[in-house]
Formats: sequence, C-alpha cells, structure tokens
Amino acid sequence: MTSHYKHDVLVIGSGAAGLSLALHLPRGCQVALLSKADLTQGSTYWAQGGMAAVLHDRDTIESHVADTLAAGAGLCSREAVEFTVRNSRRCVEWLVAQGVDFDLRQDQAAQSQREFHLTMEGGHSHRRIIHSADRTGQAISEVLGERAREAGNIEIFTDRVAVDLVVADGRCQGAYILDQQTGSVDLFQANAVVLATGGASKAYLYTSNPDGASGDGIAMAWRAGCRVANLEFNQFHPTCLYHPKAKSFLITEAIRGEGGRLLLPDGSAFMQRFDNRGELAPRDVVARAIDHEMKRLGIDCVFLDISHKPREFLESHFPTVMSRCLEFGIDIAAEPIPVVPAAHYTCGGIVVDTRGRADLDGLYAIGEASCTGLHGANRMASNSLLECIVFAESAASDIAGDLGRLPEPPPAPPWDESQVTDSDEDVVISHNWDELRRFMWDYVGIVRTNKRLQRAQHRVQLLQDEIAEYYGNYKVTNDLLELRNLAMVAELMIRCAISRKESRGLHYTLDYPEQLPEARDTVLVPDNSPLQDQPAA
Ligand code: FAD
Ligand code: SIN
Repeated sequence: MTSHYKHDVLVIGSGAAGLSLALHLPRGCQVALLSKADLTQGSTYWAQGGMAAVLHDRDTIESHVADTLAAGAGLCSREAVEFTVRNSRRCVEWLVAQGVDFDLRQDQAAQSQREFHLTMEGGHSHRRIIHSADRTGQAISEVLGERAREAGNIEIFTDRVAVDLVVADGRCQGAYILDQQTGSVDLFQANAVVLATGGASKAYLYTSNPDGASGDGIAMAWRAGCRVANLEFNQFHPTCLYHPKAKSFLITEAIRGEGGRLLLPDGSAFMQRFDNRGELAPRDVVARAIDHEMKRLGIDCVFLDISHKPREFLESHFPTVMSRCLEFGIDIAAEPIPVVPAAHYTCGGIVVDTRGRADLDGLYAIGEASCTGLHGANRMASNSLLECIVFAESAASDIAGDLGRLPEPPPAPPWDESQVTDSDEDVVISHNWDELRRFMWDYVGIVRTNKRLQRAQHRVQLLQDEIAEYYGNYKVTNDLLELRNLAMVAELMIRCAISRKESRGLHYTLDYPEQLPEARDTVLVPDNSPLQDQPAA
C-alpha cells in the first residue's frame, strides 16, 4: 500500500543545507523534510574545524575571496565566491540567533566584547574559522534540528530514501520515496523540490564521510536531465586517523592551524620540501605530498604531531580528537598521531546558480550536492558549511518569492512494483559496493593516469549493467539505491577526469602534469537535458 503526500516544498536532506533552507522558508509554507536515517546522519554532524567567515577586524572580504580563488586553482566563479563571502557574517549571525554556541576568546577583554575565537586552516591567510571546539557540525546539526522540530510548518520524515524525481512537462514535481520501515515507495509531490543530499565520497574505499554519502541527489538530478560539473575534483583530506579499528575518523586541519607538524616515521618533517606554506598549504598539495612520501618510502601512514602544546590547550580545543584517539591508545598530548589521506569532499555536483536553481523548473540543489562555482578545482577548508548556509538562504528566498505563482503539480502515477520481487541474493550488492570503492581508490585517486582511468571506466560500465539488471528485477532497498547512485556518480567522476587533459587543483594526472593556460569547467550534459540544444556553459 503506497501513500501520496502533498507539500509546498519538499526538502531532501537534513544536513546544514536542508535544515537551514527549511528554517528560512516562511512559516505559512508547508515543508516536508526528509532524511535517510535520523536527522543527524549526514556529514554535517561530523564537521570538526568550523565555518569560515570574515569576522576579525583585520580580515577583509577581499582577502577571503582571494584565498578562495587561489585554492580553487583558477576555476572558481568569482560571482559565487564574492556572493558567499559577502554573506558570511550574516550567516554567522543567523546561526547564533538560532542558538548555535560558537567558542569565544578566552581572554577577559575579548570575552566582555563576546569576540569569537577564530582558528586557522590551510589556504587561509587570516584566522577566520569560527567553531564550537572540534565539534562544530554537531553543534549546528543539533540546534537546527531542534528549531526544525519546533517549527509548526516543517513535517519531518526520517528513514526515508528518495529513489527518483518526478518530472513532467519540464518541471520537477516531487519524488518517489522509499519508507525504510514499511518497504513501500510513496509519492511526495510539491511545488518546489530541494536536493540537499550531500556528497559522494563513499565512492572511495577510504573516506572521512559517514555512510550515506552516496551522491544520491547528484545521480537523481542527472537521471532527471540536469547538468553536473567538475566531478573530477573530489577532495582528499590529508589527515584521517590510521588505525585498523578506526572507521572514517578525521583529524581536523585546525590541529595543523595550531602548529601541528607532519612527520615521517623517522621523526623528520617533510612539508617544506613540497610547499613553502608547509603544513598550511591547501589540501590538494598536502594530500599529494603525503601520498608521494608514503609511496616513495613504502610506509602505511605518516604522523601528525601536536604534542608540544600544553595538555589543557588540547583538551579545550580538540576534545573530540583527543578522546577518540585515546580510545585507540593514542595520547595526542604525548605522541604523534598516525594519519593517512582519505576521500572527503565532492567539489563538483549539480550545476546551480546563486539562487540554487538547477536546470529543471521547480528543482533546487544546495550544499555539497551542488556545484555553485565556489570551490573551483579545490575547496578551501571550512568554506563548505558556509556555502550550505548562504545558498540555503538564497534558495529559500527564491522559492518563497515564487510560491504563489507556481502551478499545483498535476497528479503523478504511483510507484509501480508489479514487475519486481524480493531479492534473494544481497551478496551481489555488497560485492559490487566493495569492488566499486576499491577500484575508485586505486584508479581514480590522488594521482591518476589515462590507463587507470580507462580501466575504471570499463569496470564501472560492467557494474552498471549488472546493477541495472538487478534494479529491474528486485524491490528497492537502501543498499541497492545507494549502490546504483554511487556507480552512476563514479561513472560521471571518471568521465570528468578523462576529459580534463591537464593537472589542476585536486585533479593530478601523470599523463598531463602541467596546468593549461585557460581554466574551463567540465560540464556534462545528459541526453534528456532541457538545455540539450544550447551550448554548455
Ligand atoms: P549532509 O550534511 O551530508 O546531509 C545530507 C543529508 O541528505 C542527510 O540528512 C542524508 O540523510 C540526506 N540524504 C542523502 N541522500 C538521501 C536520499 N536519497 N533520500 C533522503 N535523504 C537523503 N566543512 C566545513 O566547512 N568545515 C568543517 O569543519 C568540516 N569538517 C568536516 C569533517 C568531516 C568528518 C566531514 C565528513 C566533512 C566535513 N566538512 C566540513 C564538510 C561539510 O561537513 C559538508 O560538506 C556539509 O556538512 C554538507 O552538508 P549538506 O547539508 O550538504 O549534506
Ligand atoms: C577539518 O576540520 O579539517 C575539516 C574542515 C573542512 O573539511 O572544511
């Protein structure tokens, strides 16, 4: 038995982007807010370092813009960067008004003025990262989740997985949604649909991301006819904890911002050999340097040492990192932390404008699922939470302005399950998951070659054929949907990587080690795009 829901706005995703958008909509607007598991399940909850914003007297909008453009290796959209940075202070004020408790400076003079404590991260030329110790994402996620539960106009649906968008007459009118409790696929219709589904770093074997970062929104938008761009730029965070029992645990870049040094097993520092900014070079540079040293020396990890700082300082600034490392027997106040790079952030995604509009009428994409032009070829640390909040507000205001004018969606057909049965071979799914993530790590990782990319393309095609057959015969489950989406996004990542004949930002290939004089986005246009007849942007 399937259900049919109707709201003004359907928001798919309950991270910083989805929650902020829902809260920015007028209270008269009926909103459905969906998440795959509970509200805190996305990447937002795990964000450690903080959110970049121009808050210090000596910092300027121009400086934040210039740092972002430099990290993006010539590929950022200046319009998107300026738009984001100009709105950064206002977004901090909004978060504070919602109740997010950012750390204040400890000295008395600053405390009486309620001055925020600002940290430093790679690529930034000023201290400009506002934070809540090293659990900034948790603070934002819990407070915004609470506000959403209190708001009378937001209906929250957890344990729901969006399967595909409903599109008719060139307009997005809703989505088919799997209810994980009952197994039914329900129809959610709305005048506007927002994809706030996060990134796709689960495409890689080693990742800092939680389960669920399977690029669902990117795959759904592509299938529905929207352009995607710059998916070759998947960011690898340089420092994730290396321990056989530690799954996906990040060691925040703010530790390097506070003087943490990267060391080889013999205790020698190496970052200055790669970049004169040392440990605070942008992430692509640091991750590649670590990868290079690990391959050169045949070592399993490098070390991050912050043990020269007083224990009390580490306890107050990095309580999460400290206690998690202690669980594995590592005392960060006394010894270096073993670290390796891991897939962390999807810089590319669904092509949108500064109002978050995707290519289909009625469809918006915000947060990590989108490609706004802010990050270019490499995201600067702590710019992504900022992007989530800034674009959530602008998209909400665009939707609110349009609501009265938007046509009611006509009835859409219910989900058809007449041709499928329950799967009796789930091992196919787990095997394919593993295979996909392994070859993406080996062939589409930090350093690429034509040959490896072609191998990956061949493998992903075979997997997609197998998955399509499975999808056509069996009832959908979350694991099957995530695998289908990850394989789709992996294919798009590989296509983007193959088409870039240069090394730029996060895309480094031994076959084209130089950067071309002209920076161009990689834009993929699906066959069913409403813009098919127009030239790609
Ligand atoms: P997410 O927070 O990932 O939320 C995605 C939501 O979509 C979830 O609710 C999920 O359930 C839902 N969803 C996905 N698919 C479906 C579907 N098919 N159906 C229904 N719901 C779906 N950035 C910073 O700026 N500063 C930091 O300090 C920082 N630290 C980080 C640390 C870690 C460990 C990680 C992993 C990331 C970090 N980032 C940081 C990046 C940042 O956290 C993310 O880019 C950002 O939080 C993404 O927010 P989002 O709202 O777009 O998506
Ligand atoms: C970190 O704390 O190192 C993560 C920051 C980010 O990804 O922006």
